[in-house]
Amino acid sequence: MKTMTLSNGVEIPAVGFGTWQTPDGRVAIDSVTTAIACGYRHIDTAACYENEVGVGAGIAQAIEGGAVSREELFVTSKVWNTERGYDKTVAAFEKTLGDLALEYLDLYLIHWPAAAHQFENWEEINLGTWRAMTELHQAGKIRAIGVSNFKPHHLRALMETDVPPMVNQIEYHPGFLQEETVSYCRESGILVEAWSPLGTGTMLTNETLQKIATGYGVSVAQLCIRFCLQNDVLPLPKSVTPERIKQNLDVFGFEISEADMQTIRQLPDFGSKGLDPDKVDF
Ligand code: A2P
Repeated sequence: MKTMTLSNGVEIPAVGFGTWQTPDGRVAIDSVTTAIACGYRHIDTAACYENEVGVGAGIAQAIEGGAVSREELFVTSKVWNTERGYDKTVAAFEKTLGDLALEYLDLYLIHWPAAAHQFENWEEINLGTWRAMTELHQAGKIRAIGVSNFKPHHLRALMETDVPPMVNQIEYHPGFLQEETVSYCRESGILVEAWSPLGTGTMLTNETLQKIATGYGVSVAQLCIRFCLQNDVLPLPKSVTPERIKQNLDVFGFEISEADMQTIRQLPDFGSKGLDPDKVDF
């Protein structure tokens, strides 16, 4: 599995296995063990997905079965919005670790920024959450720390702390490129990860993407995943279907031409979830 390198030198497998909307229990366990058997070494979950127990059980099953060692895996989770601030974040992290049945996390993210439409002291809240994450990182319990759904104005205060974020996970796919945020992250040494790289499936019926994908003999899903990689964005495709799980990792045998990359980049915005961190009500 190819890797990308975070600003602190930690290597992160270049395609991650997304689990948003994966039900807990049997489905989570089976999809995670299938993913690991197919070669995924990077699993992305979150407390709010309510599937950490199943995801952790899948990981444990794969390790016990000898498919992989813990050290070969890269596991990410996220602190939910109700747990912001120093004390609650420390407790939320311990709960996540317990639910996943792990000794440490590879990456822990602030799921959404506290923002001005909800909190007067939003910057202070984010800094409190960040201080907890930084201390857990320095204590060796998390190998890398970062954020999710942050725009540049949310990131600025964190960039001035001792340990700036290493990752920003945002919605990213051919219909929603968030160029300002991506450029800011690139200039700041923050790796961008793509949640919903297939637009939660909405990319798959786009005719332009279908035509380009056909030209390479790949599916639109594979085209979207490869599109992320060629933009130095780390894709986190989600699937619970074995054949798709396998297919989504088979993206290293073709290269999208610069002309096709441009055509994809120039598509009008479509298929976005419309979850603006400065407007969301959760
Ligand atoms: P399923 O999980 O039932 O297999 P995203 O990663 O953008 O959030 O998209 C996830 C959605 O896309 C899920 O509905 C998933 O379905 C579907 N999906 C994932 N991979 C593929 C694929 N290779 N072909 C078609 N649909 C896919």
